[in-house]
Amino acid sequence: MKLLITGGAGFIGSHVIKLFVLKYPNYKIYNLDALTYAGNLENLKAIETQANYSFIKGDINNEVFISKLFLKHDFDAVIHLAAESHVDRSIKDPLAFVKTNIIGTLNLLNAFKSCGENRLKNKIFYHISTDEVYGTLGETGLFTENTAYDPNSPYAASKASSDHFVRAFGETYGVPYIISNCSNNYGPNQFPEKLIPLFINNILEKKPLPVYGDGNYTRDWLFVKDHAKAIDVVLHKGKTGETYNIGGWNEWKNIDLVKLLCSKMDDKLHLKKGTSENLITYVKDRPGHDLRYAIDASKIKEALDWKPSVTFEEGLDETIHWYLNNEQWLKNVINKDYLSYYEKQYN
Ligand code: NAD
Ligand code: DAU
Repeated sequence: MKLLITGGAGFIGSHVIKLFVLKYPNYKIYNLDALTYAGNLENLKAIETQANYSFIKGDINNEVFISKLFLKHDFDAVIHLAAESHVDRSIKDPLAFVKTNIIGTLNLLNAFKSCGENRLKNKIFYHISTDEVYGTLGETGLFTENTAYDPNSPYAASKASSDHFVRAFGETYGVPYIISNCSNNYGPNQFPEKLIPLFINNILEKKPLPVYGDGNYTRDWLFVKDHAKAIDVVLHKGKTGETYNIGGWNEWKNIDLVKLLCSKMDDKLHLKKGTSENLITYVKDRPGHDLRYAIDASKIKEALDWKPSVTFEEGLDETIHWYLNNEQWLKNVINKDYLSYYEKQYN
């Protein structure tokens, strides 16, 4: 199997690469990543010298480069994770999301199908997407694979569009594809712009913890290594042309999650109880903020026998432990660009 993984230097992609490189020594695994602010080769130190792994620096927005790359390698399978992934950035610069998430995906699809109908039959294009395409839930209900698309942020709209293009290439050109839509991931190596690593870093730096609005927004949290395992199962056992929802059965209101995180950080840092919680600051809400996400993950459980393997307590402990033991990783990503983003976003 010649497998191309896009976005493999990012948060989820690096966990997928680590899992696949060690589990499948006979696969040739190529990691295509542009190394944007979110891409970090330090995430892959553990496997970078393995014989079945190669890194290719390149941009999925570059149509000519992508088309040549596919001609050269004739990949059997693609797991497509490369994307602009942060909702707040999409509100400030939607065009960047259209370019990478929509045009970039289209470039990959065009290059993938260029091998011709006969060869295409035995290949698979696996597109990694998000539950945000479904919009928002009220106080009750769950997103299923049949929930209508109703994206609210520019990020969600760009991911919804990319999902539609993948499906359209299946219908129109016979491209074999699978899509999975996952809920909020957390874990080691997540860039500190997302809620959990941002708040861990701010507690370490004794900075305010900016909770949007009243904090009564709900997300369904999944440990990143469980998402990587789900991706493995879907690639190998999933049915072509199907969509799978992936989630943690683990809903938390932001403010409750933040308080739990604060109390764990107090313990780990031997701080007086309440020290971290005192940093909580309610700030202006995110525009178009989705009230609640929650995934019905029964299809993947019943059809493919996947379910989350760690509890939220275990996953959160492992995450905090990782950040406390990898302060240099954090220091390296808190650079000038990060500080300028932070300034614009929060001040
Ligand atoms: P991330 O931002 O941590 O990583 C994205 C990676 O893509 C980076 O390594 C970056 O360098 C690379 N990249 C960005 N633009 C590129 C381009 N033009 N060409 C090549 N590479 C490029 O993202 P993540 O959180 O790991 O998310 C990965 C995928 O999973 C995304 O498609 C995202 O929509 C999806 N997803 C994320 C979550 C989550 O909670 N993080 C949940 C569900 C789905
Ligand atoms: O649901 C899947 C999605 O989860 C992925 O597709 C996205 O790539 C990923 O970024 C994530 O999106 P969210 O917007 O839910 O994640 P974020 O960590 O940005 O925010 C989680 C919640 O916390 C959300 O309700 C907004 C809130 N929040 C976030 C930040 C960064 C705050 O209250 N303050 C903050 O500073």
